[in-house]
Amino acid sequence: MSVAEAIVTSSSVADAVATRRSIRAFSPRPVPFETIRRILDQARWAPSGCNFQPWEATVLTGAPLKALQDRLLASAPDNPQEYDFSAPGQVEKYQARLRAVGAAMYEAQGIQRQDAAARAKFASDNCTSFGAPVLLLCHFPKLMKEAQWSDMGMWLQTIMLLLRGEGLDSCPQEYMGVYGRTIKAHLGLADDVLLFCGLAIGWADTSAAVNTFKRERVTVEDHITFKGF
Ligand SMILES: Cc1cc2nc3c(=O)[nH]c(=O)nc-3n(C[C@H](O)[C@H](O)[C@H](O)COP(=O)(O)O)c2cc1C
Repeated sequence: MSVAEAIVTSSSVADAVATRRSIRAFSPRPVPFETIRRILDQARWAPSGCNFQPWEATVLTGAPLKALQDRLLASAPDNPQEYDFSAPGQVEKYQARLRAVGAAMYEAQGIQRQDAAARAKFASDNCTSFGAPVLLLCHFPKLMKEAQWSDMGMWLQTIMLLLRGEGLDSCPQEYMGVYGRTIKAHLGLADDVLLFCGLAIGWADTSAAVNTFKRERVTVEDHITFKGF
């Protein structure tokens, strides 16, 4: 393939960005192995500092996925967790954003957010990756620092956008980090490995209200400083 042929038009990239959203109800339709394999092959071209390519992952479907989910549903969360993803929530600006997305998600489903049963269902839905037929669990050695966490994020976003290119959807799941030790034990991963998060992969259930609520974002002016334009 020539370089010119390899250039993806900006509109298709923009479409992938615009249509990606976190999907929390999937159709049971299986995802062909060839599709997953092709996307992961393409995602290897994500950038990483020093070209370390620190990302590693285990991808499950079928019986191995069901076995993990059964174990999670029967397990207690790690205490303490191996890493903390909630710290920014102590700052009102970030807490407000979390509240807003939570409220929109529950409202779309006609559920009272304070409803303990609803919260428990959200937890168990996370454990079963919202019915997604495929779960990618990403991990890397604990020696990785901030720069490599960022690399992992870029790799995950590359996968999420490539999935859109195939008509597939996803939901990143740091909730899996709540069960990091259980998952590592189940997968036979060493203790010096850190389980970062899951990525639920599949076809969106387009009839599910939880997949349609309006999400908010800050404006460009709210978070970017331009100089010299
Ligand atoms: C690293 C990461 C971890 C996430 N973990 C979860 C999770 O465990 N459960 C969940 O329902 N959503 C999770 N999300 C989805 C976010 O809530 C979502 O990206 C955010 O609300 C913005 O919505 P959008 O993805 O639909 O644009 C995660 C997102 C990222 C990037």
